[in-house]
Amino acid sequence: MIAPLESFDSNQTPGAHESTEPLAVARANTFASQSDEIAFQQKKQQIHQRMVGCLDIAAPHEFKSREALDELRGFIEMFDDEVDLSADEHTRMMVELPWELFGNGPLEPLLADPDVSDILVNRAHEIFVERNGLLEPCDVIFADDAHLLQIIQRIVTQVGRRIDESCPLVDARLADGSRINAIIAPLALDGPKLSIRRFGKRHTSLQHLVDNGTLSQSMAAFLRAAVQARQSILISGGTGSGKTTMLNALSSCIPNDQRIITIEDSAELILQHPHVARLETRPAGSEGVGEYSQRDLVRNSLRMRPDRIIVGEVRGAEALDMLQAMNTGHEGSLTTIHANDTVDAISRLEMMVAMTGLDLPSAVVQSYIRSGISLVVHLARQQGGSRCVMRISELLSAPGGMEFRHAFSYRRSGVDANGLTTGKFEVGDRPECVDVFPEFGVQFDDSAFSRLQTAQSTDATDCTADGTMDNAK
Ligand SMILES: Nc1ncnc2c1ncn2[C@@H]1O[C@H](COP(=O)(O)OP(=O)(O)OP(=O)(O)O)[C@@H](O)[C@H]1O
Ligand SMILES: [Mg+2]
Repeated sequence: MIAPLESFDSNQTPGAHESTEPLAVARANTFASQSDEIAFQQKKQQIHQRMVGCLDIAAPHEFKSREALDELRGFIEMFDDEVDLSADEHTRMMVELPWELFGNGPLEPLLADPDVSDILVNRAHEIFVERNGLLEPCDVIFADDAHLLQIIQRIVTQVGRRIDESCPLVDARLADGSRINAIIAPLALDGPKLSIRRFGKRHTSLQHLVDNGTLSQSMAAFLRAAVQARQSILISGGTGSGKTTMLNALSSCIPNDQRIITIEDSAELILQHPHVARLETRPAGSEGVGEYSQRDLVRNSLRMRPDRIIVGEVRGAEALDMLQAMNTGHEGSLTTIHANDTVDAISRLEMMVAMTGLDLPSAVVQSYIRSGISLVVHLARQQGGSRCVMRISELLSAPGGMEFRHAFSYRRSGVDANGLTTGKFEVGDRPECVDVFPEFGVQFDDSAFSRLQTAQSTDATDCTADGTMDNAK
């Protein structure tokens, strides 16, 4: 029998990282059309079924050594003849069949590719991947829906979860930190769906984000100072706009002597900090009990002596507890919110507080938000795949409630020869929070703000970013 794969490490899949040249040639020769590829995948499934029926395959780790793998391939040779393979198909079979037995099947080469950041399986014969910020269709396919479901079940089982008709939706985290979402019938139409967001072990710093044009050097310097001076920050943006990446980068600016508690639905943050306690929510078990929500964890975290609380993404009632924490000694906490612009981010936060069922007057909620959150950083994904910080805004009291003071913004200026839009990061009004930076011993040069106020100058960093400002206002 095939052993359970709880401790399976896809980096250790037999054959997955072997010399790829003969395999690449064989793949190129056999990938003539999608129907050829479907036929190959079906042959592979056929041999797989025969092998599972005949072999007593103990544990994957027994097949990691070259000798053991050669032995396994000996068996493959035996079944080869039954399905009439060409020489190229045979080469592929020798490498790819072990992926079926012990790994993630056709997904293995995608999971081994460090440039792939998202793998989106719409159905057995339709997979898209994101490379360098661009989504593209990919020629990897599964034999059929049953094959895809089998791999989904393996991935889900290996993280201690289950997926079937009675529990057709799973959100989980893989051992390498990647986030997965699987959804099957009856909720998913036209076949099972699998989405993998890969974070790997990559750590993104603010400087990386400056280097790739997400924000300017002076925006990064301001945000670094604001985090050090315990300003609570809300990061907003649409799906995949880079909120979690920005949260990671900002967290790395927290001084090393402070204790951080992270709370996430599926843990993605990779903090390079000496003092981090990571918490993750738990869905209800099969009997419908045992659920621990973000709200439970935020409340519990207050008893864990945190200096800063980081909530991966506020989605519901935990927003109120988070704001309470920010107002009562845990200033400098950070979180993200799904929103189309800065104003929308605050309205959504208000709505989430209302979801607690407490009938608080809007003025009270707004004043809570204003005193809890100091800055909103809004990100948007551009059409060509790059991400930009569209606005860094400060929340201030105003006679009618609250108002925004925009410290930085991104302004599009045109389109370059490659069809990419060009733009500039502009410096806006000096935020009031800069006044408190010295209290925290944080040095910050605010001359860029005053320069704009007198001469309408712009930040020196020009940015090329493709796409529209659809997410930004
Ligand atoms: N500043 C950036 N520049 C280029 N690519 C980025 C940037 N930030 C994130 N990405 C890419 O975009 C993908 C999504 O990033 P991230 O998870 O941070 O977005 P998100 O807004 O948190 O997404 P979600 O809405 O799914 O939570 C990542 O795989 C990453 O590779
Ligand atoms: Mg995110």
